[in-house]
Amino acid sequence: MSVLNKKTIEDLDVAGKKVLVRCDFNVKMENGVITSDKRVVASLPTIKYLLQHNAKVILCSHLGRPKGQVNPEFSMAPVAECLSKYLGIEVKLAKDVVGESAHELAASLKDGEAMLLENVRFEPGETKNDPELSKQFASLAELYVNDAFGSAHRAHSSTAGVADYLPSAVGYLMQKEIDVMGKALENPVRPFVAILGGAKVSDKIGVIENLIEKCDTLIIGGGMAYTFMRAMGYSVGTSICEEDKLDLAKELMAKAKEKKVNFLLPVDNVIGREYKPDTPFMQIFSDAIPDGWMGLDIGSTTQELFSKSIIGAGTVIWNGPMGVSEWENFAGGTIAVAKAVADSGAISIIGGGDSAAAVKKLGFAEKMTHISTGGGASLEFLEGKELPGIACIDNK
Ligand code: 3PG
Repeated sequence: MSVLNKKTIEDLDVAGKKVLVRCDFNVKMENGVITSDKRVVASLPTIKYLLQHNAKVILCSHLGRPKGQVNPEFSMAPVAECLSKYLGIEVKLAKDVVGESAHELAASLKDGEAMLLENVRFEPGETKNDPELSKQFASLAELYVNDAFGSAHRAHSSTAGVADYLPSAVGYLMQKEIDVMGKALENPVRPFVAILGGAKVSDKIGVIENLIEKCDTLIIGGGMAYTFMRAMGYSVGTSICEEDKLDLAKELMAKAKEKKVNFLLPVDNVIGREYKPDTPFMQIFSDAIPDGWMGLDIGSTTQELFSKSIIGAGTVIWNGPMGVSEWENFAGGTIAVAKAVADSGAISIIGGGDSAAAVKKLGFAEKMTHISTGGGASLEFLEGKELPGIACIDNK
């Protein structure tokens, strides 16, 4: 069943109803202070829609990994405060997850009001997807909305199990992720170019295997390119290279050939002496990397080669930087690719943490069609896996 067929909040009659909304408020915190509230901001369209349509909104999320123990360090209190600020109404925080306080607050909610449950991972049953806990979540509300894309790869009580007991739908954030990435994978505008980077082939095997079946061009950059180059018989010096993945790399290249996928590896590289931002560096072709040097970025000829394939694409999916993009001397490849994607005119999708952060830092975010809010979740989505937090939602 296609992920594009899920009910959305607009398919639900929410007026006067208690709606349990699972968000991903797993925000970055330091000493009890939120250092990035972008996950809260990303959830606002769904929450505002529900409030404007007179729902009684019961929000919930995990924060960190408190391992089934109540731990004040992982309290949702800062999130409740942040939500109150953005929504301009008081979002009261329950003292527990599904206990007396949560039930009392839920019972006292008026239409157009919102509350927040304590950290769902304070309950030991949450990460076990315990049906008893799922039922307790369900007993708080009449409808369930999952808007937590970042946690959609987790089969937990609040992300999946609860949907067995309530009519359900996805929120706007989840809907956009599914629409853009789902369409790109199911029916891409061609040519479909996939760009994969990052340190290790082993982290991306599933994504490469899935995308080889679907894309027209597969571009490999970043640290993992050196495992492929080694598999082709090149010396890669001290570059990161997974020796135990050489056969797999060969198989993947053979598969790409069989599927007539245009498979592009770096033809030149920026290499450095050591893994340090200020290490001496030079540019060199891929068949001439000397001993004692390591590849830290793609070279300028490769930048041009990759950019040419990206410009003119119908759909581009990008996951993983082309080099050590946080270091100025080795950021050139990631900048060039970001620029090419931004200027491509293609449907451009940035999946996953590092490439999303790089695109935002480099100032190209506004020019991309979609930057996924999920790290692990978007990777599993690109692997073609069924995500429990999406699969559990009622179909239209
Ligand atoms: C994330 O930050 O990737 C999500 O919130 C999921 O968190 P988790 O890896 O602790 O399940």
